[in-house]
Amino acid sequence: MPEKKKFYITTPIYYPSDKLHIGHAYSTVATDAMARYKRLTGCDVMFLTGTDEHGQKIEDKAKAAGVTPQQYVDNIVDGPRGVRDLWKLMNISNDRFIRTTDDYHVAAIQKIFKAMYDKGDIYKGTYQGKYCKDCEAFWTETQLVDGKCPDCGRPVQDAQEEAYFFRLSKYADRVQHLLEDTDFLEPRSRVNEMVNNFIKPGLEDLCVSRTSFKWGIPVDFDPGHVVYVWIDALFNYTTALGFMNDKYHDFDKFWPADVHFIGKEIVRFHSIIWPAMLMSMDLPLPKKVFGHGWLLLDGGKMSKSKGNVVDPYLLAERYGVDALRYFLLREFPFGTDGNFSNEALIGRINTDLANDLGNLVSRTTAMVGKYFGQNLPGCADADPAMDGELMDLARGLRDLYEEQMEHYAFQNALMEIFKLIGRANKYIDENKPWLLAKDEAQKPRLARVLYNLLECVRISAVLLTPFMPDTCQKIFEQIGAGEELRTWASAKEWGLLPVDAPVQKGNGLFPRIDMEKELKELEEMHKKPVEAEAPKAEVPAEPEYITIDEFNKVKFVTAKILACEAVPKSSKLLRFTLDCGEGIPRQILSGIHEYYEPEELVGKTVVACTNLKPRKMMGIMSNGMLISAVKEEPDGSEKLHLIMLDDKVPAGYGLC
Ligand code: MSP
Repeated sequence: MPEKKKFYITTPIYYPSDKLHIGHAYSTVATDAMARYKRLTGCDVMFLTGTDEHGQKIEDKAKAAGVTPQQYVDNIVDGPRGVRDLWKLMNISNDRFIRTTDDYHVAAIQKIFKAMYDKGDIYKGTYQGKYCKDCEAFWTETQLVDGKCPDCGRPVQDAQEEAYFFRLSKYADRVQHLLEDTDFLEPRSRVNEMVNNFIKPGLEDLCVSRTSFKWGIPVDFDPGHVVYVWIDALFNYTTALGFMNDKYHDFDKFWPADVHFIGKEIVRFHSIIWPAMLMSMDLPLPKKVFGHGWLLLDGGKMSKSKGNVVDPYLLAERYGVDALRYFLLREFPFGTDGNFSNEALIGRINTDLANDLGNLVSRTTAMVGKYFGQNLPGCADADPAMDGELMDLARGLRDLYEEQMEHYAFQNALMEIFKLIGRANKYIDENKPWLLAKDEAQKPRLARVLYNLLECVRISAVLLTPFMPDTCQKIFEQIGAGEELRTWASAKEWGLLPVDAPVQKGNGLFPRIDMEKELKELEEMHKKPVEAEAPKAEVPAEPEYITIDEFNKVKFVTAKILACEAVPKSSKLLRFTLDCGEGIPRQILSGIHEYYEPEELVGKTVVACTNLKPRKMMGIMSNGMLISAVKEEPDGSEKLHLIMLDDKVPAGYGLC
């Protein structure tokens, strides 16, 4: 068997500082469709996604929430309705998920940083410039737009500190050649922007460490510095395959990546900084970087700060995952910006999915059931005049689709499929099966017409699978197409469905939505605060702190056990006579008989709290408490160890 072609595709790793919105889902859904398409064509696919978890913004957010940065990111990634949950809901078929806080990644980044330093490509200097906290990006004066961050338009701060720099300038010529003379970066329109705005004005060396915050990967040979986020983030594409670590072992198999899908605002990092860093590490470059457009709301950025976040959970739950996936990739050309609106989404569901696809499937399967029961009988031969165009369209569809998919033109690929779906619906009207059904002599022709429709549905469903996996599964079940009729090869072959395949009409695939009513409901929902729409991931409660003065009120002393005996009639209590360095012995009762026999404790040095209010137990006074290590087991039982000190520690010492 020839070896399968490898295909390595990545999404940008999501920065979990705010809730995921539909724009983030766009990147990931597109990558998923591409990965599924490549698997369909027989490739050995590696699809990587993950989370980019370091940086000042996370540190600040965690502080505000009263939790550690690690707790903060853990919750957003793995908590309820977190990142992983969303990708599961959206049917994202990633093969791997990397978190930049994963130990193996952290250690690998330290090695990479050191290797670049040893090579002389990273050096120490002083950073002076402008910093955008929101984008975690440093800018020079000339790059600012109206004195503000050129990416997000927010104010920037002056910044100066000792920092490490990456010698980006050294690689300027090679990167320029890569961008101008190869098709490394797509769409092509982004090349000019990169060359004219960033390379031609002179590439400056890049600040790659920070000392002003702690939440990052420490530079292990210079404490106080943490690796600034882009080295950490970009190399995820290699560490997740096992580069500089032993966690995985498929770096040689999958690197270089076939394509990085990314949003347009991070094209600079991926098409200039990333290749330069790979050059520094003497690693092969990814074959392609594709910078897709943005989903905008009313022409503006889809960010929480503008109060117009569109919650992907809510949309997927309301309209169905497949409808949302389809809409995202059908509505907007992948390379350019598009305006997101609920109206457009509902419109697509009603026209393409309910009217065209849903109707074709339900009419076809219903007619088979109505006129023939579950199976078609033998069919008349195809009639070239009546059937030729439809059959040619279906036979030619896979090639047209492939051409578009290979260029990441999801919208066009879907349009090709819907041309066949539209043609098939027209074919029903042209052939009027309901009239054929009235004439017994026309039954073989009727069977042919329905068979042709089933084949169109089958071929369309094979090619739609990367976009709407669950829906296509349902379609295959309804038309009785087994696994071998869902393959890439089968999408090019007309006439594979057995004539007597068991056809079964199922529930409607996409119910029509009452646009007016729906928009009203959405408007009501939008009036509610965004946070209320989806339950917030739980953030652990802020710990209840005590002050040092409060702590000092508790008096712990070292105590030597002079005598110990069981308290009569008690199964738990032991009576201790202790030397606490007070001149006269102290008596303390402790409920630890089930763990210790009295004689084994005599002579041991333990810790006692001596200013606990005295109390009587079983009629005997206890003047304090012995301190133990206790663990509650899941079954409610406890494990207990009396804290014992080295016998050399004298009695009567305080603890601090
Ligand atoms: N952490 C970086 C990526 C590092 S990759 C080595 C990052 N994260 S992000 O969470 O801010 O963005 C993740 C992806 O979502 C990016 O590709 C970004 O372009 C994309 N989108 C975020 N908002 C978007 C829209 N409104 N529309 C389309 N995609 C957008 O960047």
